[in-house]
Amino acid sequence: MCRSLLPSNIHTYTMTRLKLHLYLVLVLILQANNGVVCSREDECVEVGFARSAGSYLHQGYEAAKEVMMGRWREEEERGVPTYADLTPLLKNVTRAGQLLEEASKAIILILLLALYDLTVTRAGQLLEEASKGIVALVRKTRVGKRCIGDWILRGLEKHVIPLINLDKPLGEDLGLVMSFRCLVGSPYPNVDGSCVNQESPDLGSVGSKFLRLQPATVSKDGFSVRGSVREGDGAALPSARDVARLVRKHIKKTHTTHTFSQWGHFIQRDTFSIPESPLSEDVDCCTIPDGEDCAPIPIPQHDPIHSTLSCINYKRSARAQAILGHRESMSLVSTYLDATPVYGPTDKVAFTLKTGYFGYLK
Ligand SMILES: *[C@@H]1O[C@H](CO)[C@@H](O)[C@H](O)[C@H]1NC(C)=O
Repeated sequence: MCRSLLPSNIHTYTMTRLKLHLYLVLVLILQANNGVVCSREDECVEVGFARSAGSYLHQGYEAAKEVMMGRWREEEERGVPTYADLTPLLKNVTRAGQLLEEASKAIILILLLALYDLTVTRAGQLLEEASKGIVALVRKTRVGKRCIGDWILRGLEKHVIPLINLDKPLGEDLGLVMSFRCLVGSPYPNVDGSCVNQESPDLGSVGSKFLRLQPATVSKDGFSVRGSVREGDGAALPSARDVARLVRKHIKKTHTTHTFSQWGHFIQRDTFSIPESPLSEDVDCCTIPDGEDCAPIPIPQHDPIHSTLSCINYKRSARAQAILGHRESMSLVSTYLDATPVYGPTDKVAFTLKTGYFGYLK
């Protein structure tokens, strides 16, 4: 009945820094429950965010902020990672994403701990011993039926909480409040894709996150690379090379010329370019597969293309989420078909290629 109190999938990095905080929460809960810590056999419990998470949210955010600010200071001192692929603003965008991810993890951890009490209460156990504060929490959190972990994550996302709302001064310091220069009446869209849509000027522009047609499929902890559903327990998915080989087997070959692949490449370069995570900069993920943001792709024997390699040094993308919740990616070029490979992705590049703002190509 009674198992380990802490979920096993919590990031150890967050853990150590949160230790003191959590210890206090833990002691409170243990005391309230007369020292009995029960497992949550039924992983679905009543929990919500609209009214509940206030103090937990800020507790988690503050703990994560402390960790991340320390990390950024270290990065500046050591000059590693260099964030070389990102402009100063995009460096700040991805740092904000890192902070929001750590904050989400910390909030989930704190809420999971609080939920133990919720389950106990629901089972009608030890209700009388429970402290007034915890009973109040239980009342406040009854917003709907949700399951733990990834559901908490979805709850966080549903009540969209952008960094700028969590922490206005930091948001401003990071320059995340963009001021757009939409030239009213200009016949041309901006090179960086901003202002194409006047109502959402940043839609599809450089550095904005991709939109999703489907909700994100999150891993068990909500942040790592997702595992197999069929195999259970988040077992690793088959190598992307295996999948590619299988898919290719079933594709009917049509006759195309070389222009087809060249044009395809051109369109791809025009519509998206996703930067790798700076946190795995200069890391050989094939030798350090557990490195931060590493997602190396093993190459099966007899691979038709990469027969001499055993692994592709593949990395996860730079974070670009602006709200608490799962990771999102950004694009380094506008997502419109606007001839980015010809003009470049930003004004800065475009000005080296053109004669003036409305000018012809040199
Ligand atoms: C990035 O953030 C730093 C503070 O960490 C700030 O000084 C700098 O101006 C920001 N850069 C941009 C382009 O907003």
